Amino acid sequence: MTDSDTSFQSISWNDGHLRIIDQTFLPKREVYSDLTTVGQVWDAIKKLRVRGAPAIGIAGAYGLYLGIKDFSMKSFDMFYSESQRIGEYLNSSRPTAVNLSWAINRILKTIYAHKDSSIDELKEIVLNTAITIHEEDRRLCKEIGLNGAELIPKNARILTHCNTGGLATGEFGTAFSIILHAHQAGKVDMVWVDETRPLLQGARLTTWELQKSGIPHTLNIDSAAAFLMQQGKVDLIVTGADRITKNGDTANKIGTYMLAVLAKAHDIPFYVAAPYSTIDMELGSGDLIEIEERDDDEVTAFAGKQTAPKKTHVYNPAFDVTPNHLITAIITEKGVIKPNYNENFEKLFS
Ligand code: MRU
Repeated sequence: MTDSDTSFQSISWNDGHLRIIDQTFLPKREVYSDLTTVGQVWDAIKKLRVRGAPAIGIAGAYGLYLGIKDFSMKSFDMFYSESQRIGEYLNSSRPTAVNLSWAINRILKTIYAHKDSSIDELKEIVLNTAITIHEEDRRLCKEIGLNGAELIPKNARILTHCNTGGLATGEFGTAFSIILHAHQAGKVDMVWVDETRPLLQGARLTTWELQKSGIPHTLNIDSAAAFLMQQGKVDLIVTGADRITKNGDTANKIGTYMLAVLAKAHDIPFYVAAPYSTIDMELGSGDLIEIEERDDDEVTAFAGKQTAPKKTHVYNPAFDVTPNHLITAIITEKGVIKPNYNENFEKLFS
């Protein structure tokens, strides 16, 4: 078996532009879009053409380069403050996944650390840092997969939510990478795929990736998850994360918290998988995480058809927060982290 079974590249840097697989067309069509301006990258992130926490970070990093590459000023201070402005603009596209601001901040810090370089050299440094972030994510995701696969029992029936695969990352995925590596070790009997209302990342994207990798899977509506657990058909749950605070509270796709409560009620392990770029050591707890709210029509219409009366009042948070006490372990590239998260993150990441 090769390193990766995925035969697509969610994000690539080609000839001075960013190429993404446009996830809004999947699974029907595999359409690749070339993004040449920072505005196009902002729009692609906002509209979920590129989505998933690490993928947003990678796209944002290349987007920053696209935003600064034609700067013509000579002064470092001006270059830096304009780079900050572009970074803030990119950050405004989606607020919850910390990987976006993490990538932007990493590049800004790198620029600052090279303040004696020429403007042309700084531009090169920005691009190289974006490429490093991208390559690093591939490596980390593989390590997450290998670390997590060790926790998976034989004949495992695993439930997952949203899409956490190669589409959502540089390669392999986070929770998906664990499933992929456990499958390669012959341990996976079934992956239960929550469809993931309202935008169906599970139904549209995770099944597409599982099919490509030849992993046995069954799609279920989100509200069937409790019944599946009650019937004893789920051995463990593994999801990704968009932001994990210092105490282990975890923001992830709406519906994740519900799964964690159900896992507790049915005595099933609930794992979260994420690279270090998703761990926000600046926030003490999950109530401080900004939760993105999305448009009403994602809920009042389905596949372009109106399903609720026009003007129906809608609450459409894109994420929820799972409190740390419901999380059995957080699987990172550095290993499997168990509670107390405050203490154990401090040891690993400080
Ligand atoms: O709104 P999305 O599709 O970007 O949400 C994505 C998720 O919630 C994923 O589970 C999360 O980003 C982990 S991706 C490896």
